[in-house]
Amino acid sequence: MSHCFGRSTTTDSTPAVLARGLCKTFKHKTLGETVAVDRLDLCVPRGVCFGLLGPNGAGKTTTLRMLLGTMPPSSGSLEILGLTMPGDECLVRAKLGIVPQADNLDPDLSVIQNLRVYASFFGLPHQNLDAHLDQLLAFANLTDRREHQVESLSGGMKRRLTLARALINAPELVVLDEPTTGLDPQARHTLWSRLEELKAQGTTLLLTTHYMDEAERLCDELVVMDHGRVLDQGSPQALIARHVEPWVIEIRHAAAVAQHYACLDGVGKLEQHGSSLFLYTHDRHHALTRIEALAPTLVAPPILLQRPAGLEDVFLRLTGRDLREGA
Ligand SMILES: Nc1ncnc2c1ncn2[C@@H]1O[C@H](COP(=O)(O)OP(=O)(O)OP(=O)(O)O)[C@@H](O)[C@H]1O
Ligand SMILES: [Mg+2]
Repeated sequence: MSHCFGRSTTTDSTPAVLARGLCKTFKHKTLGETVAVDRLDLCVPRGVCFGLLGPNGAGKTTTLRMLLGTMPPSSGSLEILGLTMPGDECLVRAKLGIVPQADNLDPDLSVIQNLRVYASFFGLPHQNLDAHLDQLLAFANLTDRREHQVESLSGGMKRRLTLARALINAPELVVLDEPTTGLDPQARHTLWSRLEELKAQGTTLLLTTHYMDEAERLCDELVVMDHGRVLDQGSPQALIARHVEPWVIEIRHAAAVAQHYACLDGVGKLEQHGSSLFLYTHDRHHALTRIEALAPTLVAPPILLQRPAGLEDVFLRLTGRDLREGA
């Protein structure tokens, strides 16, 4: 079935999002200041799927909140769909769809009631409203759950309902904060295909995700950010080519004996993430031969996994740490 809920805006030449020097500082009474977003520059073209990647605490949600007008920036300039923020919040919200990081559906209402209440915020005409909402339910594969209470839905169903709700006003820009976190593989694939449909209709998508396969699959362009700043921007393929060697050999459970592998550093770039060592290289055959030559000096044979480099490697290289402390 084909659906058409987004509004195509690709003919408009202004970017969907244009942020210059955007800052957000939180002041704590006892802890001092947190600079969550730090002079962030962002340009999201229309009609693309744009990703915002970064470790926990990098400032992604805070950035989205400022774009959505739910949190005023401390400084900097911001234009959404050619409108100025702060100032044009009401006009901007009428053109936006929002899938927040935490579900904020009303658990006591039914699926259809949730959609009706949300529709009333936009003052949509009653004529044809039911047919429109039924189409949205079909889009979200929730037709048979129409009268069910939201509380009784699974996590994946709630996520799909939140997406359906975000499309009620035929938004030009849909902002999704970790739309597939906690979903099973089937639910993720369903949501991806819905997002691909929306993009094909010309709707601009701006999403955050911690799933690198998701970002690689969906995003035409993305930024990797950390400490509230953009570290780099490009298509997934461009970022991979720019930041990492084409092949990765993972040596599992080798971190504790990393000194035995130190001689590989000239063969490629040797990095440690968690309990594994990662050898990033242009010549994997040479690298594998060198690793095999080390085998007689090791207590146990190495467990090797070889694969082409991906966005996860870019992420690890750019953001540098295994685990974000304090996030
Ligand atoms: N309302 C708030 N008051 C004080 N500090 C906040 C507030 N919201 C966010 N922060 C701080 O701002 C920083 C960025 O948080 P943010 O939620 O934007 O990160 P994130 O990139 O979305 O992380 P995650 O991937 O975990 O969702 C963190 O240090 C966080 O503790
Ligand atoms: Mg977040």
